[in-house]
Amino acid sequence: MSSTSPAERTLVLIKPDAVRRGLIGEITGRFERKGLHIEAMVLRAMDAQLADQHYAEHVERDFYPPLKDFMTGGPLVAMVLSGDTAVEIVRAMIGATDGRKATAGTIRGDLSMSNRENLVHASDSAASAAREIALWFPELG
Ligand code: CMP
Repeated sequence: MSSTSPAERTLVLIKPDAVRRGLIGEITGRFERKGLHIEAMVLRAMDAQLADQHYAEHVERDFYPPLKDFMTGGPLVAMVLSGDTAVEIVRAMIGATDGRKATAGTIRGDLSMSNRENLVHASDSAASAAREIALWFPELG
């Protein structure tokens, strides 16, 4: 598509495991080299209330309590990326949820051995992106 195609936005979280492991630059660099545009970026913590809102579809799942502990257990980087079909492109770049199964060449496939501590979250649809961006960056509304 041409560079004049309307940009789509997506929300990305560089999770606490990636921050602890010193992988902010590695992960952000991949998105930058791909040609995605960073519209907003902040290092911050996710508190319990934001975790329940962000992961609303998972709060009843067995894996949610440890996921919540993990996601609220240290600083993370929240960012808004934009570009043509950014939602689909970023999901392809991060790979399957379980890092042990994710394809080599993807962020999780190259750098994660876990299905919880999987380094990155990215919106799974344009509708999720709109909801998640409103939660994390209400000023971009
Ligand atoms: P994420 O893309 O942020 O969306 C939901 C998160 O829940 C997922 O990445 C993982 O961190 C976590 N997750 C999903 N499935 C499982 C699972 N079966 N066991 C543990 N954690 C999971």
